[in-house]
Amino acid sequence: MAEGSTGANRIPSPASGSNRVCATFGIRLPLMMGAISPRPKFAAVVCRAGGLGCIEGISSPDKIRQQIRELRGLTDEPFSVNFPLAFGDRSLVEGRVKVAIEERVPAVMTSAGSPKVYTRMLQDAGIKVAHVVAGIAHAEKAAEAGVDVLVAEPTESGGYRGANEIAMMVLIPGIARAVPGVPLVAAGSVADRAGLVAVMALGAEGVQLGTRLMVTQEGREFFPEYVEKMVLAADDTSTMSADGPTRPRVSKPEFAERIVGDGRKRAQMGQVAALIHDVPTVAEVVRELFEGGASHARDVAAAIEALRGRLDA
Ligand SMILES: Cc1cc2nc3c(=O)[nH]c(=O)nc-3n(C[C@H](O)[C@H](O)[C@H](O)COP(=O)(O)O)c2cc1C
Repeated sequence: MAEGSTGANRIPSPASGSNRVCATFGIRLPLMMGAISPRPKFAAVVCRAGGLGCIEGISSPDKIRQQIRELRGLTDEPFSVNFPLAFGDRSLVEGRVKVAIEERVPAVMTSAGSPKVYTRMLQDAGIKVAHVVAGIAHAEKAAEAGVDVLVAEPTESGGYRGANEIAMMVLIPGIARAVPGVPLVAAGSVADRAGLVAVMALGAEGVQLGTRLMVTQEGREFFPEYVEKMVLAADDTSTMSADGPTRPRVSKPEFAERIVGDGRKRAQMGQVAALIHDVPTVAEVVRELFEGGASHARDVAAAIEALRGRLDA
C-alpha cells in the first residue's frame, strides 16, 4: 500500500491494481461472506459471484466435515470456515479446527477469541487465516500472532463487536495505520456502493457482508421469513447490543413485537438494515458494490476536486 505523507499520522492510500485480500485468498473480488449461515449452498453462491463464501462453523466436527465436502462438490472456488473460538468447550473448538486442517480448507476465519491459539497450526497446514477484531489493540495482537487478514467489526455491524463499541470511522483508519502490513477487511455497515467507497477510503482493502447477504433472493432459502421482514422494516433505531461477552447486534424486542408480532423473535442484524429496502440477487449486490462503487468513487473525487479549486479563490 502506498502511503500518503501527512507528518506523523501517515494515511495509507488505496493501492490500485493489486489487492492483497484477493491475492491472499485467490478470489476475484475482495468480498468476504460473513459467518451468517452454515449452509454450503449459500456459501457457493458467494463463491460463484467472485467473493469468499463462508461456512459458519458452529456445528459438530462431523457435520462441519460434511458441509465442507458438500461445498467442494458445488464449487472449485476458495472459501472459508468460521470458528467463533469462545463458543462451546475447548475440545469442541479443537475438534472443529482439526476437521478444517484434515480437510485442507482454503481459509479459516477465527472470531470471538485469541488469534494466538490456532493461527500457526492452521497456516502450517497451508490454510490462510483471517481473524475478526473489534479494536486497534486486538488488531495489533492478531498481527503479532501472524494472521493473514484482519477483519474489523465496528459497533454498527451485525457481528461480535466486543464491549468497546468502536465506530467504523475510527476502527478502520486506526487499524490501517497501526498495522499497515496486514490486509484489512471492513465487516459491517456496508450494503451499497457508498458503503464500499467509504470503507475503502478509510483504509480497508475489502469488505465483509452479513445483513445485506441475508436479505437476497438466494438468502430466502436459508433464513426464516421474519428475518427478512425485520431487516426490510428496520430503521436506524431498530437494533441494540445483545448481552454477553461477544455482544452481537440484534433486533430490539419492541421492534420485533411491532413488525412480526412476537417480541421474543430475535434477528441478528447490523445497523445497516436501515439502508436495506429491496431483495436483490447476490450477483446484483456484488455489481452494486463494485460497478456502482467505481462510479460513485469517481463522482466523490470530482466533487472534492471542484471544492479544491476554491481553496485559493
Ligand atoms: C445472523 C448472523 C450471524 C452471525 N454469526 C457469526 C458467527 O457465528 N461468527 C462470526 O464471526 N460472525 C458472525 N456474524 C457477523 C458476520 O460475520 C459479519 O461480520 C457481520 O454480519 C457484518 O456486519 P453487517 O451485518 O452489518 O454486514 C453474524 C452476523 C449475522 C447477521
